[in-house]
Amino acid sequence: MDIKKLITVLCIFATTLLAHAQTEIALPAPNKTGGKPLMEALNDRQSLKTYVKKEMDKQTLSNLLWATYGFNREDKRVVPSSQNRQEIDLYVMFEDGVYFYDAKANVLKQTAKGDFRKGLGNQAFVNDAVLNFLFVANLNKASNRDAAIIDSGFLIQNAYLFCASSDDLGTVARGSHNRKQLHSDLGLTDDQEVILTQAVGYIK
Ligand SMILES: Cc1cc2nc3c(=O)[nH]c(=O)nc-3n(C[C@H](O)[C@H](O)[C@H](O)COP(=O)(O)O)c2cc1C
Repeated sequence: MDIKKLITVLCIFATTLLAHAQTEIALPAPNKTGGKPLMEALNDRQSLKTYVKKEMDKQTLSNLLWATYGFNREDKRVVPSSQNRQEIDLYVMFEDGVYFYDAKANVLKQTAKGDFRKGLGNQAFVNDAVLNFLFVANLNKASNRDAAIIDSGFLIQNAYLFCASSDDLGTVARGSHNRKQLHSDLGLTDDQEVILTQAVGYIK
């Protein structure tokens, strides 16, 4: 093979590798201490829909993700699930793309690149939020759809309580997303369903 051909082959190889390289956000270990006591967090829990645009540091992000859907035992999580099916996947939508929360590895793995926030519906504040959670049920894993809907509620409440226990975070659960649009944007299968979304942002 002459040198020109070799360079062309190498370039194609490198481009293919780059195209398939998954962007990952490695997270620091979650800090499992701190925050307001539970009774105070319950007293402060509320839906907030006005956010100040701000970056979230990786430590806070890791803490939020762990509180929402991390493992607190070898194979079990901070939330219960019907028959321990753990059929909900937690996706995180940022301005630049959508990421899957791999709680075991403590990383966010990009599954779609681009701004897909249009699929979140018409409430403008979702664009001021730091991130929007997508609670995606694997219906072939769930005991049934009702269980998946109920199970996603535990993640949502955990995120509510995490935000209420902080001084500067707010959140709101949202059912007014465009389910079909998100399904197609995320490249989900027929066995997957976006049950609910949830905006999380800074309130000051
Ligand atoms: C299943 C569910 C779906 C919701 N969908 C939306 C929504 O699409 N947009 C919104 O602004 N709030 C939404 N909310 C927030 C409720 O409006 C809010 O929880 C309710 O008004 C009570 O207020 P609080 O959470 O401050 O107690 C939703 C809440 C739940 C539980």
